[in-house]
Amino acid sequence: MKKPRRSAAWYGKNDKDGFIHRSWMKNQGFPDHAFDGRPIIGICNTWSELTPCNSGLRVLAEAVKRGVWEAGGFPVEFPVMSLGETQMKPTAMLFRNLLAMDVEESIRAYGIDGVVLLGGCDKTTPGQLMGAASVDLPTIVVSSGPMLNGKYRGQDIGSGTDVWKFSEAVRAGEMTLKDFMGAESGMSRSAGVCMTMGTASTMASLVEAMGLSLPTNAALPAVDARRTALAHLTGKRIVEMVEEDLPLSQILQKPNFENAILMNAAAGGSTNAVVHLLALAGRAGVELTLKDFEIASDIPLLVNCMPSGKYLMEDFCYAGGVPAVLAELRGSLRKAKTVLGGDIAAYADGAECFNRDVIFPLDAPLKPAAGLRVLRGNLAPDGAIIKPSAASEHLLKHEGRAHVFENIEDMKATIDSPDLDVDENTILVLKGCGPKGYPGMPEVGNMPIPRKLVERGVRDMIRVSDARMSGTAYGTVVLHVAPEAQAGGPLALVRTGDTIRLDARAGVLDLLVDEAELAARRAAWVADAPHYTRGYARLYIDHVLQADKGADLDFLVGKDTRPVTRESH
Ligand code: FES
Repeated sequence: MKKPRRSAAWYGKNDKDGFIHRSWMKNQGFPDHAFDGRPIIGICNTWSELTPCNSGLRVLAEAVKRGVWEAGGFPVEFPVMSLGETQMKPTAMLFRNLLAMDVEESIRAYGIDGVVLLGGCDKTTPGQLMGAASVDLPTIVVSSGPMLNGKYRGQDIGSGTDVWKFSEAVRAGEMTLKDFMGAESGMSRSAGVCMTMGTASTMASLVEAMGLSLPTNAALPAVDARRTALAHLTGKRIVEMVEEDLPLSQILQKPNFENAILMNAAAGGSTNAVVHLLALAGRAGVELTLKDFEIASDIPLLVNCMPSGKYLMEDFCYAGGVPAVLAELRGSLRKAKTVLGGDIAAYADGAECFNRDVIFPLDAPLKPAAGLRVLRGNLAPDGAIIKPSAASEHLLKHEGRAHVFENIEDMKATIDSPDLDVDENTILVLKGCGPKGYPGMPEVGNMPIPRKLVERGVRDMIRVSDARMSGTAYGTVVLHVAPEAQAGGPLALVRTGDTIRLDARAGVLDLLVDEAELAARRAAWVADAPHYTRGYARLYIDHVLQADKGADLDFLVGKDTRPVTRESH
């Protein structure tokens, strides 16, 4: 016998409650037959004018609705909190878990049978998926899609990546302020997310490789009519998923996560993917640890997109997009179910590459062994990460003297001082930017190169912190050091003048200070007073897990799939 629809508990009853649920919905002009027991599909939308990357989602929502109606469902769009990466302070990451709570409770409280997640900007994709995973209805993703390539003076310019480059060039006196300001309008010239392989396009690529969206979802430009058609087809498919009883948990299995890790390496994807995948796995009840990311250590870099390469997402789309990369990875891919009900290998069937300078073949890759490296040692007992594909080869094995910034304010106030006692061999250390310390773990790990060194032509140095970095950023940057300084991790004990050893290939990050000295420093250490004492930020500080656990809130891990039985009236 078929499982009764979840929505029947809201709209299928001929009593006072059924009257109330239906009658108020009818004020929008829905006819009786919308409540005849057909699947009710929630369209969970993070559209907002304060999240410019998601500004195209209203159009896509309408296309999803067309597909839902066509397949015999009843679409209902609802808003959730939106997170505009470039607009929010102190950092959008502080609110990823709040979005996840909003999504989870909205899905659970309303009488819907399946969900289409419309997201794109960095934290919206993982936040929506985390919330949806904790309710576990049939769920599918439509992403915003990337902006068209940025253009300035006849050249392609990439979101984020070129901002960092231009701003360093201005500091070095190599670019005028007028040119810098001029590039601003050419960089973001259509709806969509950052068109580099930053966090948004990384997460969209991983979503596709996990089988959580239809094929080609990640790379189709936001304004490409084919994305609107894909949204329509997604609307049709979610109705079928409800009929087939295909919940999200069947697609959030360990092999799906492993395929995401493989794709992240091949795409030169964002370091942020690590915290997001760990947090999502925690919701889904999948055992995933930093160690699992080592399965991709030998996966080469295939996608030649900024920040690890030179092209942009529009080029990636025209070259074949994620299906073409999956075709290259076919030998490594795990068997894993997708929203289409079959195996992920089907996403690569018939895929072709149309530009080998954008998507390299596995046997002649752009860079060998490009996967993120997990680092451990007495400076990061619970781990840290580095992205070798965006780093300087000569710095990946290095021993140097630390220069410590106690917090972000200290760094900003002193980094450009002519008296700063640093050279190109110095290792810059930044404390107080982990999940609890900032709070929210901002993207400041790629701290600027000190001006006196920039002026001498230095463009990269080793930087170590408990922060994250933007997916569009580059450099030899050690991130997510766990435990963070504010939680009393060894990072809190580092002092200027100490020696640090990094060996990225061997996975080592050590502080070369003897145990007795470290014990004395620990005895004298006191945590900084928390920056926030009320509201959501306080809740976050009190409950956030460390980076190696995905920085979710401890009480949000896991799921609750019980039916909602209590009535409101
Ligand atoms: Fe929104 Fe990059 S800032 S995707």
